[in-house]
Amino acid sequence: MSEIVVTPALDARRLREDFPVFDRTFCGKSLAYLDSANSSQKPRQVLDAMRRFYESSYANVHRAVYELGERSTAGYEGAREKISALVNAASTREVIFTRNGTEALNLVAYAWGLDNLGPGDVAVSTALEHHSNFVPWQYIAKRCGAEFAVVPIDGQGELALESLAEIEKRGRVKVLACALISNTLGTICPVTELAAWAHEREAILVADACQAVPNRPVDVQELGCDFVAFTGHKMLAPSGIGVLWGREELLRRMAPYELGGSMIRKVTEKATTWADLPYKYEAGTPPIAEAFGLGHAADYLRDVGLDAIERYERELTGYALERLAELPYVTVLGPPLERRGGIVSFDVDGVHPHDVAQLLDYAGIAVRAGHHCAQPVMDHFGLGATTRASFYLYNLPEEIDRLVEGLAEVHARFA
Ligand SMILES: Cc1ncc(COP(=O)(O)O)c(C=O)c1O
Repeated sequence: MSEIVVTPALDARRLREDFPVFDRTFCGKSLAYLDSANSSQKPRQVLDAMRRFYESSYANVHRAVYELGERSTAGYEGAREKISALVNAASTREVIFTRNGTEALNLVAYAWGLDNLGPGDVAVSTALEHHSNFVPWQYIAKRCGAEFAVVPIDGQGELALESLAEIEKRGRVKVLACALISNTLGTICPVTELAAWAHEREAILVADACQAVPNRPVDVQELGCDFVAFTGHKMLAPSGIGVLWGREELLRRMAPYELGGSMIRKVTEKATTWADLPYKYEAGTPPIAEAFGLGHAADYLRDVGLDAIERYERELTGYALERLAELPYVTVLGPPLERRGGIVSFDVDGVHPHDVAQLLDYAGIAVRAGHHCAQPVMDHFGLGATTRASFYLYNLPEEIDRLVEGLAEVHARFA
C-alpha cells in the first residue's frame, strides 16, 4: 500500500522570524511585503550560510589545489546537488548555474536556437510570457530567418490553445516557449500538455519556471519539458544566480553560449574543444557564494515543504481575491483561483498604478506597479500598467487586510 505523505501546514508567523527584514519598519510601519514575485526576502539561514562561506571556505572553484579552494569547490558543487535533487534532475550534469533567469533563457535561445532555426521554421512564444522568454525567441527567430508566432490569451488571461492549429500552418514548429506560471496574471499554464504537443512535432518545449520553483514542487522529469529555467532571487536565495536545467542529450549536442575560461577542454591556436557538462555552459568565474546560498535556500524550502508552501499561497491568494472583490473600483485580472499561482494583478479605477503603489508604500505596503516585463499582456488588456500583489511563505492574512484598507484610502483620495 502506498503511503501518502502530507507536509503539515506551514506556520508563517514562525517562519517570518527567520527574515531579518521584518524586524525593521518602513515609512514608520511594519512591512507588508507583497512583492515576492519580483524578488523574495532572505532568511537568516541563507544569509548566515553565505557569511560563513565567505569567512571560511571562499576561493575560486575548480582550479585550486589548496584546501580552501577544495572547500569552495565542494560548496559550489554541493549546491548543484541540492538543486538537482530539488527539481529531480536525472543528473547534476543537467544543472547549469547562470547569473539569473534571463541568462538561462537566453542561453537556450542562442545555443540551441542559432543552430536549429531557419527559413520555414516557427519559434512560438506566448502572450503571457515575461520578456525573458519572449524577446530572445523573437530576436533569434528573426536572425535565423524563421517565423516568430505568439499564442494569444483570452479574457481571463489563459492561453488560447486553439490558436496552435493556425500557428502550425505557418511552418515547421521547432520550439514552444512557455511559462509554468505567468508573473503578471498568475495563470498556471498546461506546460506538460504543451510539451507533448511540441514533441509530437519534434519540437522542444522551453519552460520558464521562475514563478513556480519557489513555491511548489517542480519535477523536471515529470514535467516532460526539454529546458526549465528558474532564478535564485525569487526563491529565498541571493540575486546573481539562476539555473538552467536541460535534457542531457540536447545540452551535449548544442554549441556553447559564452566562450572563455573554465568551459574548455583543450585550446590550441588551431582549435578549441569544450569541457564536459555542465561546465561547457559555465564560462568564467561563476557566482560561487551565490550558488552556495541557493543551495541553502533549497534546504530551507525543502524543510518547510514545497507542497505546504503551495497550499498556503493558495489560501492567501483565495483570501486576497475574496477581499478585493469587496472593492467595486478594483478590477482583478487573470484566471480563477484553481488555475492561479500566488499573484494578483489589478486595476484601480481612475488611479495610475504608480500612484497606487506610492500611496500604499506610505502605509508600509510594498507592491509592484508597472508592466511587469510583460508588455504583450498589458496590450491585451489595453492597459499601460497594473498594480500587482504577490504572496509567499512569510505573508499573513492581515497583510491582505492592510492592502484592502490601503486601496480604499487610495481610492477615496483620488475620487
Ligand atoms: C516569469 C519570469 N521569467 C523570467 C524572469 C527573469 O528572471 P531574472 O530577474 O532572474 O532574470 C522573471 C523575473 O521577474 C519572471 O518573473
